[in-house]
Parts: sequence; C-alpha cells; structure tokens
Amino acid sequence: MQSPVETNKMNGVQPIWETHGEEKRAAVQQMFSEIAPVYDLANSVMSFRQHRKWRDVAASMLKLESGDTVADICCGTGDFLPVLRRKVGPTGTVVALDFCAPMLAISREKDSLTSLCLADACQIPLASNSVNAVTVGWGLRNVPDIDQAHREIFRVLKPGGHFVSIDCAEPNRSAVHFISVPFRSFFVRLSGKFLGMKTAYTYLDESIRRFKSRSELCESMKIAGFTEIFYRDLMMGNICIHHGQKPPRVHGNEAPDFLTPENTFTNESF
Ligand SMILES: C[S@@+](CC[C@H](N)C(=O)[O-])C[C@H]1O[C@@H](n2cnc3c(N)ncnc32)[C@H](O)[C@@H]1O
Repeated sequence: MQSPVETNKMNGVQPIWETHGEEKRAAVQQMFSEIAPVYDLANSVMSFRQHRKWRDVAASMLKLESGDTVADICCGTGDFLPVLRRKVGPTGTVVALDFCAPMLAISREKDSLTSLCLADACQIPLASNSVNAVTVGWGLRNVPDIDQAHREIFRVLKPGGHFVSIDCAEPNRSAVHFISVPFRSFFVRLSGKFLGMKTAYTYLDESIRRFKSRSELCESMKIAGFTEIFYRDLMMGNICIHHGQKPPRVHGNEAPDFLTPENTFTNESF
C-alpha cells in the first residue's frame, strides 16, 4: 500500500522539503510517524554506526554533573537518552520531548527513567530556567521556525546552562563538498529506496541542502540570547555540532534554579 507521504507526491502535492510553516510541521510529523519502525536501522546504516560517538562528543560539551536535569528536544527514538543518563546518573532527571508519538514510543526502551513528553520544539512545556542542559539531535532542520525553537530552548535553560545541537551539514571545504555531497545524495536515496521509504530519505537529502548554514545557526542562537557560541565539525564537515550557553545569572535574573510543583515540567500529554 502507498504511504500518505508517497501518495501526496504522486498526486502532485508539494514535496515535504518545499513546505513551510504549519504545512511543514504536519508533513514532517506524518513522515516521522511512517518511518519510526525503520528509523534506528536507517540511522545506523547511514551514519556507518558512528552516531553514538558523535552524541558522546556533543554530550561532553554540556558540563553535566550527577543529579542534573537535561532535556532532549526532538528526541525521536531516544538514542541520546542513555548518553545523557550516564552523565546525570540515576538521581538526575532526563526529559525527552518529541511531537511524533510513534517515535517517542520507541524511546521508552532506551532509558526507563526518562520522562517522555509529546510536545513541539517551538512550544516547550517546561518551566523557564528549569534545566541544566538541552540537546537536539538531527532535529532543528525539521522544525518550521528554528528561531522560535532557539528562543524556547534559551527560555527553559537555567542561567549558565549549555545547549548543543548536532545535525548534518554541507561540508565547507570545496574538495570534500565535491565528493561527499553527490555520494551522500546517492547513498541516502538508495538506502531510502531499499527501506521502502524513498520520499522520506529524499527529504533527508533535500532538507540538508536547504538547512541554515553554520553562521546562520550561530546568528539565530545569538539573537535568542546565547553566548559562548561555537560549532565543531565532524566527519569532514558532514556533521556539525553547535554549542551555546545561557549567560550565567546576573543581578536581576533571579529565576528559580530548581524544579518545584509550580515550575515543574508537564508530562501528562504522553
Ligand atoms: C531525524 S529525527 C532525530 C531523532 C533523534 N533526536 C536522534 O538523534 O536520532 C527528528 C525528530 O524530530 C522530531 N521533530 C521534528 N519537528 C519537530 C517539532 N517541531 N517538534 C518536536 N519534534 C519534532 C521528529 O518527530 C523526529 O522524531
């Protein structure tokens, strides 16, 4: 049977990678619902099983300590959760948010202590100044309003808290770009075809091409209020980690730095 995403394409409806705003949000949500069962397999194949190493590198930038609270936004099937749990230990709090229930359901298996929440990255149901760190893995590219997601991430971070986003990127060096972009395009589309998810994996390739550049992401983070902004390339620039920090508390920024019944996150939606 043809999936709704494939049907849309056949009917001549705009492909997902050309959608914006609410239309993009709905199409992306539907697409991830469809690929949830094969997502982990595809992730391993397409990253040559390297994604766990890259997550470790990203998590090491967060300066997390035992007992800390961390939120993973656009958590998908939850591959960041064991990495974050190792950092905060059994007494720490890990909150995982995604707007796609079938993806979130798989993340249950990755860390039983994590609180799961069905939520949008542009409207995070967490209290302001409530978490020590935020991670996003391969998520922001799919969000229709990245500036709003950055503002929300900044809001929920405690003063001094760290944020990392890891995603695919276009290599900066022209020789690498010349070789790896056609290879990526071919390999990703072929893998998608093999997995019976041709449109979804064409979206992956197209969305990388259309994603904000490194400096545009830095600018968006800066406008949201982040400092200590830097990025680190991996895989010869095919993968990039962006880091930002909410400025440490200064006089007049007296928000609570712990979770109370009044300012705690909501978890009733999933
Ligand atoms: C490529 S997957 C990445 C999953 C996971 N973070 C990882 O590292 O493997 C992108 C995820 O972002 C979620 N997502 C996309 N847009 C979102 C939004 N606006 N709000 C919340 N989740 C979103 C999708 O449902 C999907 O699970």
